[in-house]
Amino acid sequence: MFTKQKPTTIPITEIEQSAFCRTDETLDVKPLAEEFSASVRWQGIPSEYLHMDGKELTARIRNARNLLGDRLTILGHHYQREEVIQFADVRGDSFKLAQYAASLPYAEFIVFCGVHFMAETADILSNANQKVILPNITAGCSMADMASTEDVIDCWNDLENILGQGGIVPITYMNSTADIKALCGRNNGIVCTSSNATKVMEWAFQKGERVLFLPDQHLGRNTALKLGIALEDMVVWNPFKNLGGNTEDSIKNAKIILWQGHCSVHTRFNVNQINKAREKYTDVNILVHPECTMDVVQAADYNGSTEYIIKTVTESPPGSKWGIGTEISLVSRLAKENPDKLIFCIDSVVCPCSTMYRIHPAYLLWVIEELINDNIINQVLVNDDTAEQSHIALERMLSIV
Ligand code: 13P
Ligand code: SF4
Repeated sequence: MFTKQKPTTIPITEIEQSAFCRTDETLDVKPLAEEFSASVRWQGIPSEYLHMDGKELTARIRNARNLLGDRLTILGHHYQREEVIQFADVRGDSFKLAQYAASLPYAEFIVFCGVHFMAETADILSNANQKVILPNITAGCSMADMASTEDVIDCWNDLENILGQGGIVPITYMNSTADIKALCGRNNGIVCTSSNATKVMEWAFQKGERVLFLPDQHLGRNTALKLGIALEDMVVWNPFKNLGGNTEDSIKNAKIILWQGHCSVHTRFNVNQINKAREKYTDVNILVHPECTMDVVQAADYNGSTEYIIKTVTESPPGSKWGIGTEISLVSRLAKENPDKLIFCIDSVVCPCSTMYRIHPAYLLWVIEELINDNIINQVLVNDDTAEQSHIALERMLSIV
């Protein structure tokens, strides 16, 4: 029953998270060779792509894209850079992009401008003959990396030993590997995204008395609080400790077990930043992503997924003021697209998600130019068993929201 004490390992993606933070520069694209100076892992790429400037990259991507026509669909998450998202046939939050991938009748190739777990999900939900490509294979997610398959299986075995089979319903946030989605699929569990976490958690509590929520403790806690679950009824599972740092009794008494994971981008936001924004502009609206900590979400006026953030700001009256707590590429785009409103990031440091940022337009150009020659680079392919089991958990989500 007891797991071995494991050494604490911080995911590399978490260590690299602040690599592109800056205080005095814009987010405009630089040739990839210059970006290579940031100390993160980059995928190797033929040297001809290293020195192209933004203008040349844009022109060549447009040309390659036109040559591929209907054979190619480009999906883009809202956190992508301006120079990349402009080529997306569909932009969305992780839920909308998953729904879209599940309903794409044609397109031989789906190039996913986002991060690895999103591309895996697109592969699981798309047709067997469609190929999903991630332009830079090192574009992972530091939060997803905080829940290794091995640690989650250990946790699940411990919980089943203590609570018995069927004693707890697993919910995994979309930001997790296909293996973890598969574990949820085969154990009567489900996937959620930030746009449907409340409905999914309600569904889970109709199926059982307790929920394991992973890997984002903050989204789990914020959602449980919305459903009226008290903080005393939640425990945190630290994968580096025996029984996650809990006792058998505390696990039996809990309603929610929250995996100790977080998003390094959203945990940068704090209540002090919100107070400062309110001091500066008395009528400002504070809008944050639910991956922020509980105190930030509670101090904000609104919270929701990236799609919700865009809709809320876009539909607000001219002259309104918005202090936003989410990834900077999205906040900058919102500010550009809504010049009649005051829109700013509540963190004064410009700090993009370092893994989303790795989809530099040079990688997009490389993979689509190779597709013209029928050469597939960076296909994301989930094995059949994992795909089948994770499909069950994804379908449960798609059918209730
Ligand atoms: P959304 O589902 O709101 O797009 O969020 C995905 C994500 O990774 C946020 O950090
Ligand atoms: Fe992962 Fe956070 Fe980046 Fe989203 S913003 S992809 S949760 S690291």
